[in-house]
Amino acid sequence: IGTVVFENSTAASKAVAKEIADLIRVKQAQKQPCILGLATGSSPKGLYAELVRLHKEEGLSFKNVVSFNLDEYYPMEPDSVNSYVRFMKELLFNHVDILPENCHVPDGLLSKENIADYCEQYEAKIEALGGIDLQILGIGGNGHIGFNESGSLKNSKTRLVALDHITRVAASGDFLGLENTPRTAITLGVKKIMEAKRVILMAWGEGKSNIIKASTEGEETSSVPASYLQEHNNATFVLDKEAASKLT
Ligand code: F6R
Repeated sequence: IGTVVFENSTAASKAVAKEIADLIRVKQAQKQPCILGLATGSSPKGLYAELVRLHKEEGLSFKNVVSFNLDEYYPMEPDSVNSYVRFMKELLFNHVDILPENCHVPDGLLSKENIADYCEQYEAKIEALGGIDLQILGIGGNGHIGFNESGSLKNSKTRLVALDHITRVAASGDFLGLENTPRTAITLGVKKIMEAKRVILMAWGEGKSNIIKASTEGEETSSVPASYLQEHNNATFVLDKEAASKLT
């Protein structure tokens, strides 16, 4: 794992956006699609703002981009205020020229018996495109990546998962109380994340410093799924000073 520390999250987000823009342009020159794995939550907000700026001010086109989001709450209406479909539209998709049919976010409206097939097809679509070129991740306070909570296996597939209590508590503000917060979600499995050609995990603030230390300097363990990235040959943790403050 590489770690890169920036003065603040704005500078860090711009650097990540630059890497993504460069990759999109290389793929454009090769007449290839660019397959991006995307995250929601607070950590990538500055990244998406910078990508929108690059589109509007510097002519970056997303016409060759195919995106796969990591996760969605289940159940979830796509136009609900807390849906990750809505998050992605409002922060990125509606402001760039990505084709709607190229934007994939797990479906929060499936009936239970269709989830397994749907998850298999989600992975098959990624495979048919040659895999994820660049995966963006945030990290939960418990070390989750996507919604692969503590205990998720390294070869875990895309699936319906139960959210950890602390994940639900972290989300409960958005849902106006724990009782309204979903108990389950659909998440890309650890295996597909590990198969991405490039992985960038972003974390900001003192509150993430302990889990960043455990993920990068601690042992590789299923209790901290982000620690699996120690085995990835092209993963970088992009941090602000506060998130990096406990690293030796
Ligand atoms: C979101 C996701 C989660 C978040 C993580 C950190 O799609 O997969 O793993 O990245 O919970 O969330 P924030 O960035 O809000 O601290």
